[in-house]
Amino acid sequence: MRPGKWIYTVAMIMVTAGFVAAQFPGMNLTPAEKAKLEAQQKATEADYHYMLDILHLTHLRPGANGLNPKAPNPPNTNEALANPYPNLPNPLVSNLGVRITTPQLWWKLRRPEIVQDFDRDVYGYVPRNVPKVTWILVSEKHGTSHGIPTLTKHLIGHVNNSIDPAITVNIPLTLVLPARASGPVPVLIHFGFNFNPLVMKGFLAMLKARGIKLPPPPKGPGWKQQLLDADWGYAILDPTSYQADNGAGLRSGIIGLVNRGRPRRPEQWGALRAWAWGASRVLDYLQTDPAVNAKEVAIEGLSRYGKAALVTMAYDQRFAIALIGSSGKGGATLFRRHFGEQMGNLAGAGEYHWFAGNFLKFDGPLNAGDLPVDSHELIAMCAPRPIFISYGSPKVEGNWVDSRGSYMAAVAAGPVYRLLGKRGLPSATMPPLGVALLSGDIGWRQHHGGHTDLPNWPAFMKFASKYIKAPPPLKP
Ligand code: GCU
Repeated sequence: MRPGKWIYTVAMIMVTAGFVAAQFPGMNLTPAEKAKLEAQQKATEADYHYMLDILHLTHLRPGANGLNPKAPNPPNTNEALANPYPNLPNPLVSNLGVRITTPQLWWKLRRPEIVQDFDRDVYGYVPRNVPKVTWILVSEKHGTSHGIPTLTKHLIGHVNNSIDPAITVNIPLTLVLPARASGPVPVLIHFGFNFNPLVMKGFLAMLKARGIKLPPPPKGPGWKQQLLDADWGYAILDPTSYQADNGAGLRSGIIGLVNRGRPRRPEQWGALRAWAWGASRVLDYLQTDPAVNAKEVAIEGLSRYGKAALVTMAYDQRFAIALIGSSGKGGATLFRRHFGEQMGNLAGAGEYHWFAGNFLKFDGPLNAGDLPVDSHELIAMCAPRPIFISYGSPKVEGNWVDSRGSYMAAVAAGPVYRLLGKRGLPSATMPPLGVALLSGDIGWRQHHGGHTDLPNWPAFMKFASKYIKAPPPLKP
């Protein structure tokens, strides 16, 4: 299978297969693979229960079962029941009730409060002593891609692990630049899925058992070619290279290194914030590469990496623009919505590692309505910078991602964009599938397909071209 197709394939199935892949019966694991998975699951359970114990949490509300429609707890898809907490925290009123009427009040008072609330209760604080990353150029190679000359660099971000030499963290990065540029180029950082053979085995077994056939990728150039054609470069970052996508991995990777292999404290960062940290370190490198215009760096990701891309964009103001693909709950969709994926899913053993431990409280004694913030404020943290939010069709992609909840969040981020002299979404009404909203500083489109952002790339490129002007190519 071509790499582009792999990406599409994986994207299509992640939402259903995801973290359950490991348990899927048709996997035909070898004894060694089985032992590895079981050990990982055991360690995840142990870490999860450790966190519940230190928080004195005995009962969390279970999530919805998105895999078996006959299960007693299917995801809610009834709009009439979808808004149990209709009042969102006001991004323009401070926690002490001060109305935020000027950009200065936003920057000095309100935004820092929102950041702190997300840090403490949702994504976790990045510890102060995160070690430095040194970027090493491993190789450089000239090539062409559909007639465009390219320069591909392979780099490794080596994390100083002197605080615990037993834990090694290296960040491999592939950077592809158009070699014909007349000046420094914009670069998009893509959070890429790592096709771990074990996980793939689970995905493929599940597809086979359910008779799911994958649609072909959209016609026309793939996302990489679209970028090169527009004289952008791109970088591919595998976030699991520096922070694993499971609870067992919290005692290694960058999170584990900082804690010297000990478990997290409840306020410390989860994987989403760690993945975003890695993207920021890539941007540090890009700032040193004269071939790159580091003021025009974009971040993009799909699904859990859509969440990571939004967290990256929200926290690190050096990022110029973002494409957020089907990020769902924990990303652009409101936690307060009762539709599709539930808080109980995010707070379960399969996903809790994405968040701070403190987040689990909001699925126990507290609920989503008690969160001091919601995703409209994560989008508002990106203001005034442009951000494009992408989904597929509810019919094909499913309702798990709750695209409407994201639209509501994007609308509710609008007042902050306006306060900063920009325009949020151009309309408070969700447009039909296939209609791109490009005239505001929050862009939006839902394509007709499934769990992928590929069909929305052309609209994103159009949106991005309002802000980012790549240097013209040199004459051959
Ligand atoms: C699961 C999870 C989602 C996530 C998705 C993915 O479905 O519940 O929150 O976005 O996996 O990353 O594929």
